[in-house]
Amino acid sequence: MTKFKLIALLMLFALGFSACDNDDDDGMQVESLYSKLGGTTMVEDPTDPGNMIEQGRLGLRSVVDSTIFVIAADPDLSPFFAPLLMELGNGNTNNLAVLSKNLTDFFCVATGAENFAYNGLNMRDAHDPAQNPRMAMKSSDQDFDNFVGAVVTGATQNNVPTELIQEVGELLETLRSDVVQQ
Ligand code: HEM
Repeated sequence: MTKFKLIALLMLFALGFSACDNDDDDGMQVESLYSKLGGTTMVEDPTDPGNMIEQGRLGLRSVVDSTIFVIAADPDLSPFFAPLLMELGNGNTNNLAVLSKNLTDFFCVATGAENFAYNGLNMRDAHDPAQNPRMAMKSSDQDFDNFVGAVVTGATQNNVPTELIQEVGELLETLRSDVVQQ
């Protein structure tokens, strides 16, 4: 084999190996939203000093927790969360922690994290009061728009870059038909 052929073969091999996992239709590498948000880089968890957390998960958890506050203060959205807000009024934060974890897991998996799993209800059951009594009533398109607005506010409060907020919005939009049930 000539030197030129050998180099050409090696280049072909290298190309083949680089076209892995996150390819788009043209075989180009696409960075996941999770990775753009910081991905698997380990950083100290500011709420749990001494413990490390993936930067992508920390970013998403911060957005989730801010969003829950935005929802609680929103007279259009808070009635949907009546059971949770009732518990919080009684000083019981157990289910708030469960919701924060489930939402964070959901966002991690949905944005392309590989080290976490979502174990909550699917989006249709989670938003059907007959299946999930913690959902006080069915939501409409307008309620969905309000919810996305709350996530955008939560993300803005955490300085998530505008183009990534746009990507989060597009991701949420794919779930509208499961969540909206009236
Ligand atoms: C794409 C948008 C949405 C996503 C990704 C989402 C995600 C989730 C997830 C992961 C859960 C937890 C399910 C479980 O614990 O098994 C949940 C619960 C819930 N969601 Fe949504 N949701 C969305 C939109 C909405 C909207 C539009 C409303 C109402 C206006 C809503 C109200 C609720 C309520 C009330 C619960 C139960 C909270 C609790 O456990 O106390 N969600 N959602």
